[in-house]
Amino acid sequence: MNFSEELDRYENVLINKFKNHVVLKNISKLSDNNLKRLLLQRRLISLEFTPLYEQTICGLEHEEAKKILRWLIIEEYPPNNQNHREDLVTDMMKLGLTKKEILNVKPTTLTNMTIKKLFDSIEYSENNYDIKALSTLNIAMEVLVSEEYGVIIPELQKRFAFNFIGSAFYGPHYQHDSKNTLGGHSNKLNGVIKNFVDSKEKLEIAKNCMANACEIKMEFYDQFSNNISK
Ligand SMILES: [Fe+2]
Repeated sequence: MNFSEELDRYENVLINKFKNHVVLKNISKLSDNNLKRLLLQRRLISLEFTPLYEQTICGLEHEEAKKILRWLIIEEYPPNNQNHREDLVTDMMKLGLTKKEILNVKPTTLTNMTIKKLFDSIEYSENNYDIKALSTLNIAMEVLVSEEYGVIIPELQKRFAFNFIGSAFYGPHYQHDSKNTLGGHSNKLNGVIKNFVDSKEKLEIAKNCMANACEIKMEFYDQFSNNISK
């Protein structure tokens, strides 16, 4: 079996499953207020990016993998520009949200649970930690992020004074997190994961972690299912 091809195929299966979540599939049926509420909660997950990656770097064994995660963190904080957290606020204000609404929002129980599960999923273990943590983060914090914004951005363009071209956060993340963007975040992570997966056993470990990461992401969206108008 070609492990690399199987990982790629399975990643596509998960992308498909994720995009079929009732909320992402019916995003146009969310009211403007509920869509904003979703984005406010979604921002709280984005804020966990750096702590998740920092925790993971400390547990990794392979230098090659550590280098990529260090690079991803540096990407978050370009030295001469506003960082990705500031970029996100810039984009959210274009939707008519105020700084107060954006910055003072409190996590819902389900958002808190998502964050807890993300940290649980990268908990250190002595066996195959690199494969486990990288497969998890790649799906949860890169591949599916691009897919989410791929669904959300057209909706923002339709409803608000939001332009993909001028986007500071959503647009760039849609592009650089996509598994299909050469040299992008998930593209690089996929490169190292494929180097580490050299047996059927390791392939199964990676696939289980990928599936779990997808499950966590879908659970976050469950909290908005009741807001889809019939
Ligand atoms: Fe990324």
